[in-house]
Amino acid sequence: MSSTVPDQADNLAGSREQHGIVTGTQPKTPETRPETGTEPGSENTPEITVPRHVAIIMDGNGRWANGRGLPRSEGHRAGYENLRRVVTAAAKAGVSYLTLFAFSTENWDRPNEEVSGILSLAAEVIKVETEDLHNNGIRIKHVGRLDRLPQDLQNQIADAVTLTRENKGMTLGVAFDYGGRYDVVQAIQRIIKDGVSPDEVTEDMVSNYLFTSSVPDPDLVIRTGGEFRISNFLLWQSAYAEFYSSEVYWPDFDGNQLQKAFEVYTRRERRFGRV
Ligand code: FPP
Repeated sequence: MSSTVPDQADNLAGSREQHGIVTGTQPKTPETRPETGTEPGSENTPEITVPRHVAIIMDGNGRWANGRGLPRSEGHRAGYENLRRVVTAAAKAGVSYLTLFAFSTENWDRPNEEVSGILSLAAEVIKVETEDLHNNGIRIKHVGRLDRLPQDLQNQIADAVTLTRENKGMTLGVAFDYGGRYDVVQAIQRIIKDGVSPDEVTEDMVSNYLFTSSVPDPDLVIRTGGEFRISNFLLWQSAYAEFYSSEVYWPDFDGNQLQKAFEVYTRRERRFGRV
């Protein structure tokens, strides 16, 4: 599933940076396209379909740092700086849900120093950014396990979620200690605990027990850093998401890169298993 479709490459000025998978040129059906928008500030840009829910695997921080002779921690810091750019660009473009994969259930296996660096950075992000996000009407949602995080961080996350829960702007999902397989396991566990009988279990019910309950499935999953893997991110939820891989490392994946992803997405034909 890793072919680059020529019309896409052409439309992206021949850039080798972008690899979309399975693009199409058909207009999109209105029922699958709830929101549209145009590139801010450009009157000549053709209309862009803005996905309702964008989910991003933020990869490449380490390589970004390596390429500059810096420690990996500097890559994560640069990744944090970029969070602000992309959150702002997504909200401005009219994205309703943005879910970012910040720390996976497997990332605990990284060297202790790197793990504690990311945990400290997460605490700093919440401390520094929450007020601004709140003032901009953004609703913060934690996606994943809380129980294995340091107690202080758990409290910070809970406070940020509570503070912003009534906000009506973009929902920012932060997948932190998240794994798609664990998500399904914890859903099954809770369904059984709730005494649901097997024949009552439906797909909608499972969706409602996932960490992303109340969030619609992603329309577009972006992976930065050039890989074509889903890496245990939103496995159930991404069943019909469009996938877009960019070679650009996360710290450099700015609003313009996001716009390119939306351009490719706009040309996709989503069929949801139909003809
Ligand atoms: C993947 O790049 C990135 C991570 C595992 C950490 C993501 C963290 C941030 C974007 C910044 C902080 C944000 C929060 C909420 C803490 P990688 O290290 O796997 O890169 P590589 O593949 O080049 O090694």
